[in-house]
Amino acid sequence: MFSLAQKSALVTGAGSGIGAAIARTFAAAGASVVVVDVHADHGQRTVDEIRATGGTAEFRRLDVTEEAACQELAGTLPPLDILVNNAGIGHVGTLLTTTSADLDRVLSVNLRGIFNVTKAFLPGMIVRGKGSVINMASSAGLEGLKDRLAYAISKHAVVGLTRCAALDHARTGVRINCLCPGRVETPFVEARLAEYPDREAAYREMCSTQANGRMGKSEEIAAAALYLASDESSFVTGSALAIDGGMTAGSGRF
Ligand SMILES: NC(=O)c1ccc[n+]([C@@H]2O[C@H](COP(=O)([O-])OP(=O)(O)OC[C@H]3O[C@@H](n4cnc5c(N)ncnc54)[C@H](O)[C@@H]3O)[C@@H](O)[C@H]2O)c1
Repeated sequence: MFSLAQKSALVTGAGSGIGAAIARTFAAAGASVVVVDVHADHGQRTVDEIRATGGTAEFRRLDVTEEAACQELAGTLPPLDILVNNAGIGHVGTLLTTTSADLDRVLSVNLRGIFNVTKAFLPGMIVRGKGSVINMASSAGLEGLKDRLAYAISKHAVVGLTRCAALDHARTGVRINCLCPGRVETPFVEARLAEYPDREAAYREMCSTQANGRMGKSEEIAAAALYLASDESSFVTGSALAIDGGMTAGSGRF
């Protein structure tokens, strides 16, 4: 088990799904965790879960699209050891069915949100000469995804932001990486499934697109985040780590 004892972490979008699992995993590994979400009730639920198991957590409401609010939050917290930019939204549509407003909304959360929050917290890490920033990309940041144009663009951009920022700050002691999960069973995916007339058939179809025949669990993504947050990943920066049951390994066709 990797230890995060004595480390402070902030996780955005930690009121649900993958972010909540990361916050719980980090707290269980000894970190004190700032749980951030735009939905206060969801975020507080994660804090309550962590405290119920003896962990240390506090909730701060933040909309990651609001640059000034991100700066303000950074000003009220001690410098962080670990920042996880996990908050994200989905969108269904092709180039023709996606409006420019849709594109702006998805980019403002999934890309500009990471830009805003990292700009707010990175200087404190640089001053201390250490830190780990973990951005949530997606398998859709490594390859195209049908009918998810805005989402896939945003996640390709997250991979690009991660690589560029990692290079720019590689000599500061701060490491910047991203995770590229395949489909993971969370409220995010459940909302998509609920749109199909036959939810069970859609679920089976989603699983069948995975090389290993199943979707991931939030805890499986959190385990990778724990590695990137820990000192054991000290030589890892600028990486885009696929955690996708083989989804992006190849087509699987023969
Ligand atoms: N579930 C998957 O299959 C999957 C796959 C690959 C990548 N991802 C990525 O993982 C991340 C988490 O996904 P999830 O499935 O856990 O989603 P989720 O919808 O369950 O949780 C996302 C959380 O982000 C919060 N959030 C949304 N907009 C916000 C904003 N502007 N400011 C602050 N918080 C905000 C939501 O309130 C929610 O609590 C996302 O970035 C998503 O794109 C998910």
